Amino acid sequence: MTDDALVAEATSARAHAYAPYSQFRVGAAVLGGSGQVYRGCNVENGSYPLCVCAERVAIMNAIAAGESRVSRLAVVTDTSPPASPCGACRQVIFELGGPECVVTFASTDGDRRQLLARELLPEGFDGALLRDRAPR
Ligand code: THU
Repeated sequence: MTDDALVAEATSARAHAYAPYSQFRVGAAVLGGSGQVYRGCNVENGSYPLCVCAERVAIMNAIAAGESRVSRLAVVTDTSPPASPCGACRQVIFELGGPECVVTFASTDGDRRQLLARELLPEGFDGALLRDRAPR
């Protein structure tokens, strides 16, 4: 799976964005550990705090399909520069993609940037710290 192909998947996903409140349409695609690609788009709600970002929808789709990890993520917006993932999404990428997960953010006009999850979220919270605790 090339970076171009993953960006193309994210661009296709963006067509399904439900963004009647912000008009800010976002598409995402992730590469699961099995090699399968999963798409996501932002899904808004009239109760604004319930809006869900495209990146998290794509990752949750991968996990719900049986993947345990994702290795790459692409996110596409129509802005220049391209929008980088929000803080909440960075934490989810950090846990389910790991610190070395490759994150590409691209604009529909071809502008593109790429960073690792650990660069987007230095010192991200490590969920492993919660393991091996005595049951309560
Ligand atoms: N949004 C995303 O889908 N991903 C991000 O990383 C930032 C923001 C969405 C959420 C909301 O539907 C709209 O963009 C405006 O914040």
